[in-house]
Amino acid sequence: MTDAHAVGEASGSVEIHEGDNLDVLRGFADGAFTLIYLDPPFNTGRTQERAVETARSTTATPQDRVAQQEPDALEEAGGPDLRSYGTAPIVRRGFHGREYERLRGDLRAYGDRFDDYWGFLEPRLLEAWRLLADDGTLYLHLDYREAHYAKVLLDALVGRDRFLNEIIWAYDYGAKSRRRWPTKHDTILVYVKNPERYWFDSQAVDREPYMAPGLVTPEKAARGKLPTDVWWHTIVPTTGREKTGYPTQKPEGILRRIVQASSRPGDRVLDFFAGSGTTGAVASALGRHAVLVDANPEAIAVMRERMPHATVSGSGIRHDS
Ligand SMILES: C[S@@+](CC[C@H](N)C(=O)[O-])C[C@H]1O[C@@H](n2cnc3c(N)ncnc32)[C@H](O)[C@@H]1O
Repeated sequence: MTDAHAVGEASGSVEIHEGDNLDVLRGFADGAFTLIYLDPPFNTGRTQERAVETARSTTATPQDRVAQQEPDALEEAGGPDLRSYGTAPIVRRGFHGREYERLRGDLRAYGDRFDDYWGFLEPRLLEAWRLLADDGTLYLHLDYREAHYAKVLLDALVGRDRFLNEIIWAYDYGAKSRRRWPTKHDTILVYVKNPERYWFDSQAVDREPYMAPGLVTPEKAARGKLPTDVWWHTIVPTTGREKTGYPTQKPEGILRRIVQASSRPGDRVLDFFAGSGTTGAVASALGRHAVLVDANPEAIAVMRERMPHATVSGSGIRHDS
């Protein structure tokens, strides 16, 4: 049960699809979703291997992260970054043609690592853009190492005028490097399909406490303030109601803000890197209809347990529960 149930909103439906998201997405109609939230795996290998990868984790233990060879964790563990990266030299024209093609080529020169990552993401982002409704919004949750390259490329791919926000999710957890400022944030890039028509309802978002409540009236302090683009929020607590055990699970509080602001009850919400299904659990509890896709059978099992009212389709599904 999510917090949203506590306010008594009717649950929305949840559809879970097991399979490679690129295949599944091709079956959905243009403009079918008001909100798309994506939390892709962080790049740790070649494109083909990523179909079942659950690599990036801000909520994984430092040991998990060392196992996944994340540079911070390696640094925290005192070891070198031993990764090798593959290449996926695909150049495509974005909606903005030449500019995108040129940037894509320029960024490739900076290293294989991002090129390989983007080679995996690009066709999926193009599908996401096709699936987004005219008043729809795309949230792309990224690692700080990828976020700046992705911002530049997405601007060129869909148009800089479609960029709405860069959200910083700041948390404080785990080991801290002594050799630089410990990196304790994720970046969420926000793009809208149509800058004239996108849906955004700041009044629907849960408010947060003022940092200095003594400086505002008691009424304002009691009401709380609107969140800005910097969100201080804990990671998923290691014990408690919300934890599913899926290593890359994101907190419901983060998804709740996104769903409240950028969709209405009855709208369709898509997450095609669904993992433990946080987007679906929150969206359904807030009365939205969620469509979730993941290639990993463990993710499907976690989602089935978390959302027993969901319908499940795709390869390898079990019908025994
Ligand atoms: C970072 S996790 C998402 C975590 C999720 N936001 C949550 O709160 O639990 C990324 C997910 O993408 C899935 N994935 C990776 N490549 C995929 C692909 N090609 N098709 C479908 N799912 C994929 C992985 O199995 C993993 O569960």
